[in-house]
Amino acid sequence: MTTTADYTEKIPNNVNLHEDRRLQRALESWQPNFIQWWQTMGPTLPTQDVYLRTAVNVGRDGWAQFGHVAMPEYRWGIFLAERDPGRTVGFGEHKGEPVWAKVPGEYRAELQRLIVIQGDTEPASVEQQRNLGATAPSLYDLRNLFQVNVEEGRHLWAMVYLLHAYFGRDGREEAEMLLERHSGDPDKPRILGAFNEKTPDWLSFFMFTYFTDRDGKYQLASLAESGFDPLARSCRFMLIEEAHHMFVGESGVQRIIQRTCDLMKEHKTDDVRAFGAIDLATMQKYLNFHFSVSLDLFGQEASTNAANYYTMGVKGRYLETRLTDDHVLTDSTFDMEGVEDGRIVRKTVPALSALNERLRNDYVEDCAKGLLKWNKVIADAGIAFELKLPHRAFNRRIGAFNELHVSPDGTVMSAADWKANEGKWLPTAEDRAYVTSLMGPAVVEPGKFANWIAPPQHGINRPPADFEYARFN
Ligand SMILES: [Fe+2]
Ligand SMILES: [Fe+2]
Repeated sequence: MTTTADYTEKIPNNVNLHEDRRLQRALESWQPNFIQWWQTMGPTLPTQDVYLRTAVNVGRDGWAQFGHVAMPEYRWGIFLAERDPGRTVGFGEHKGEPVWAKVPGEYRAELQRLIVIQGDTEPASVEQQRNLGATAPSLYDLRNLFQVNVEEGRHLWAMVYLLHAYFGRDGREEAEMLLERHSGDPDKPRILGAFNEKTPDWLSFFMFTYFTDRDGKYQLASLAESGFDPLARSCRFMLIEEAHHMFVGESGVQRIIQRTCDLMKEHKTDDVRAFGAIDLATMQKYLNFHFSVSLDLFGQEASTNAANYYTMGVKGRYLETRLTDDHVLTDSTFDMEGVEDGRIVRKTVPALSALNERLRNDYVEDCAKGLLKWNKVIADAGIAFELKLPHRAFNRRIGAFNELHVSPDGTVMSAADWKANEGKWLPTAEDRAYVTSLMGPAVVEPGKFANWIAPPQHGINRPPADFEYARFN
């Protein structure tokens, strides 16, 4: 199990695919469709090769290798984290029973649904980001973009493997559908709202990888607790890759802030647009947008689905095994914000029905950590400005807050007042046009960076920031 995957196989894997010829053939017949999708919906900037990491192992001592790879030849493999032979279901009505190596018949529909929803987000983000290579602010950033893209492709493989291996014909049909829905397609859109939004510029990309990939982290972490062991093991390995995506977002936003602050100090002005950088007020608006659409991904505050998933043992809480309660929750309550008579009120509800909200809380807490780092850059520059997470009721489309109009500081107001202020809180068409105007042709000279972003402090893996991360014909 811990041996390095055989990269001479058509589909590199650590799941002994060669022992199941039917499954192997089914996946090999899906593979050309995936490649076709990658070529038509994946990155548009042609490269000769890119310095990428490829997953080769799930063991503790090194799971990836780095090297220049021609992207169409990237090897998307299937990897499950190592099996823990003594693992038991950690929560719900099967708590303490051995985990399931196969799908329990009575939970088949729920498990398939969860896997399809997760799987749908992976190719969606590749589609959203497909044109960004053309305006990359540096080779370093281009490499990071493509690293995120190939790994989202691998995450799609991870979910498709589960669908093919455990859900028979239905699973194979769902695997096809994952390539047929497309981000923003009016007829066949992706399942979740945030994955149908555009990612038209690099500020959006960094905000997306900070806020929306972080939603991915929390969904994967709760599926990593699943009693369905192959799903849990699949998600555990995906989480290792996901960490880099959030790093790209956090460090990307931080470098834009750094550049902005440097120019503010140098020219003693807030108006850095005059110097081709992105002002802090505009960054706050992008932050407000990406945070609020990502909050919607966690679903309704009160959810019988979430309660059922938990009781069945198919989807747990964040770090379930480290929590010290009874892991059944039938007698527990949860305090949260809700809506009553058009006002935001605190209320106590049954814990089981509030699991989406609880996961959203964990997520919000995690989001706040990056802002501490970003604000430190601003404070260190001696600038009186603080980026803030907007109130969770701001700009929501899903859940109880959808019916209210709430400002970023949590004030409930009339629809007309909200509309009148919207341009102060969310990017206007003019803001977006300005940010787009900064996105010049890709900066492909090693060690050079676009004017609106500072260089990173370190390169990726070992090479310095001026390493030739991508090569062109
Ligand atoms: Fe992913
Ligand atoms: Fe990701």
